[in-house]
Amino acid sequence: MKINKPPMGWNSWNTFAENIDEQLILDSADALIEKGLLDAGYNYVVIDDCWALRERGKDGKIVPDPKKFPNGMRSLADKLHAKGLKFGMYSCSGLMTCAQYPSSLDREWIDAQSFAEWGVDFLKYDYCYRPANRKGEESYRAMGLALANSGRDILFSACSWGADKTHEWIRTTGADMWRSTGDIFDNWNSIKSLIEQQFDRLPFGGKGCFNDMDMLVIGMHGKGHVGLGGCTETEYKTHFAAWCMLQSPLMIGCDLRSADDFTLSLLKNSVLIGIDQDEKCAQTYRLGGDEAPVLVRALENGDVAIGLFNLADGEKHAWLTLNDIGIGVNSGKTLELTDCWTGEKSIVKNGYVGSRLAPHSSIVYRGKIVDAK
Ligand code: GLA
Repeated sequence: MKINKPPMGWNSWNTFAENIDEQLILDSADALIEKGLLDAGYNYVVIDDCWALRERGKDGKIVPDPKKFPNGMRSLADKLHAKGLKFGMYSCSGLMTCAQYPSSLDREWIDAQSFAEWGVDFLKYDYCYRPANRKGEESYRAMGLALANSGRDILFSACSWGADKTHEWIRTTGADMWRSTGDIFDNWNSIKSLIEQQFDRLPFGGKGCFNDMDMLVIGMHGKGHVGLGGCTETEYKTHFAAWCMLQSPLMIGCDLRSADDFTLSLLKNSVLIGIDQDEKCAQTYRLGGDEAPVLVRALENGDVAIGLFNLADGEKHAWLTLNDIGIGVNSGKTLELTDCWTGEKSIVKNGYVGSRLAPHSSIVYRGKIVDAK
């Protein structure tokens, strides 16, 4: 499928894991719409693992659990499509899914057909229980080809966690996005580690196959399947800022039905979403020292996105000079910065952008090139 921007949506796993059913998916879809998240760009509703019966049917097809999905998947897809949403599902490339439900190994073509018949628009494809005699790239290529021939435009979301040098082969599989790191958990150590692991994988992302840093934990507040500890508001802000600066897909993972105002304001921040969704898809680059990285990305309209981060447990000074990003002293230019949280505008003086940052905090600016006075 041809996508020009990282996908945005909601996925059931982080909060609900196996506790899913049609009503929950529809209620979550309604909440997504009522709370303005569809308008903000979140248009995929994805059912993760645990939707199927443990055994395939006699015809070899995978069977949705009738207790959880009594009306079947086609009916659910139709209901989601009628709300203006896209429908995502999940399978796995190994012998079983991670939660030990049937996977699509050697059944790629029959399953891709089922997904197409059900009206699926997005397939997340996991990596648990890979058999020793099968390389990851072979399994992902098989599903990529089966989806491309399924008769339906289905976004292929690869989820092999960056294992087995995924970055070297993932673009050969036709995947539209790839999980570049392991699973996220709702705590600061997990977020910090996912950000740091991303730095040497940046050349492999961008248009064609986006680096996926995993589903967001914003708004989980320690509750739900991966809610191990929870984060402070500052940490959730840094989480969202980093995912947007690094151009990750934005798949919400909290319970939307009870999402609070802080969570919604974060998830709907239009300056950050604009940076995440910028169609130029230039590679983000990193300046700055250990634990105080500065991330920079050139944007489609000539603006520059600048993120100052403090990943340390103590205060840090994060900074850059305009010279570092191609605006030399002889250019006659400077930046007009817009702070993505406050909307406050300021003009860069003396070619310096920086701040002393509290632990785990961050600032993101969208910078517009203007004449230096
Ligand atoms: C793996 C994936 C997760 C989730 C679970 C489901 O751990 O990385 O995102 O899909 O499997 O079992």
